[in-house]
Amino acid sequence: MKTSKRRFLKSILAVSVLAVTGLYSNVTYAKDADTIKLGFLVKQPEEPWFQTEWRFADKAAQDLGGVEIIKIAVPDGEKTLNAIDNLAANGAKGFVICTPDPKLGPAIMAKARSYGLKVVTVDDQFLNAAGEPMTNVPLIMMAATEIGERQGQELYKEMQKRNWDVKDTAVLAITADELDTARRRTEGSIDALIKSGFPVEKIYKSPTKSNDIPGALDAANSMLVQHPEVKNWLIVGMNDNTVLGGVRATEGQGFKAENVIGIGINGTDAVNELSKPNPTGFVGSLLPSPDVHGYRSTEMLYKWVKEGIEPPKFTPVGDPVLLNRENFRAELDKKGL
Ligand code: GLA
Repeated sequence: MKTSKRRFLKSILAVSVLAVTGLYSNVTYAKDADTIKLGFLVKQPEEPWFQTEWRFADKAAQDLGGVEIIKIAVPDGEKTLNAIDNLAANGAKGFVICTPDPKLGPAIMAKARSYGLKVVTVDDQFLNAAGEPMTNVPLIMMAATEIGERQGQELYKEMQKRNWDVKDTAVLAITADELDTARRRTEGSIDALIKSGFPVEKIYKSPTKSNDIPGALDAANSMLVQHPEVKNWLIVGMNDNTVLGGVRATEGQGFKAENVIGIGINGTDAVNELSKPNPTGFVGSLLPSPDVHGYRSTEMLYKWVKEGIEPPKFTPVGDPVLLNRENFRAELDKKGL
């Protein structure tokens, strides 16, 4: 617990340094008047997922030439709106964003419009004041329901491989329903489990207060103590950190790795876990394409700014690969991650 906290703090520190150096280097290059400046704003820069998007945004900028990416961490609404002011003051022409809160959509768009900045959303879709998706803002994201369904199918397969008796088994689903991406993934996963034959009454949902390991750990702990009768747990969650929090909670309550199956989503955020010398209950992760998210969104925004080519309203990114302890290095290598 202590070490994971320390690791968490360390990664935040590393990211702040990253963000600062990112901004700093932008200032250094700002002299070239022909350079097109584009922002890339992410809600959780401590997640390797978002660091990977940033890395591939830079790669796109390099390939396109004459583009500079201004990377800014936007963990809350105030920082997001300030970031847009800063981008405009720096002469940026637009930005890609994974918002810290979908409900900020209208405020973000109003501010962007006031400066004439173009906006491409990535990962999480904006919601309007009525709570409906803002389908007029270009969005690039992984197919949420499908990747969730795949998580459910893989959990079920692994359970069968281990010959678990369903009677001793339950599903711990750590939910974050206010984030539509998350809701669609976990619902997809639960639906797939039910479809495979898992009894619906043994699927226990526990909402997390924050989308990180500590939040998920708390949510999981409070559910685990309510079900001392369960011998084996399947863990459902919207991404790697959520599932990792669930797995850590089972460990804390004395469950052995052979009685827990967790399969995450993101892949990038599972590398430390899958590298551990001994297997844990976290058996794998579905890796979509953060490289494609970072690269394509940047390329789309650039073409919009430079050539007036408006991006499609929706670009789904599919075909995740299941990483496990054996294949993860090779699979990440294949994608250049
Ligand atoms: C959401 C999650 C991230 C990541 C992205 C991928 O934003 O919070 O961890 O899974 O989706 O689209």
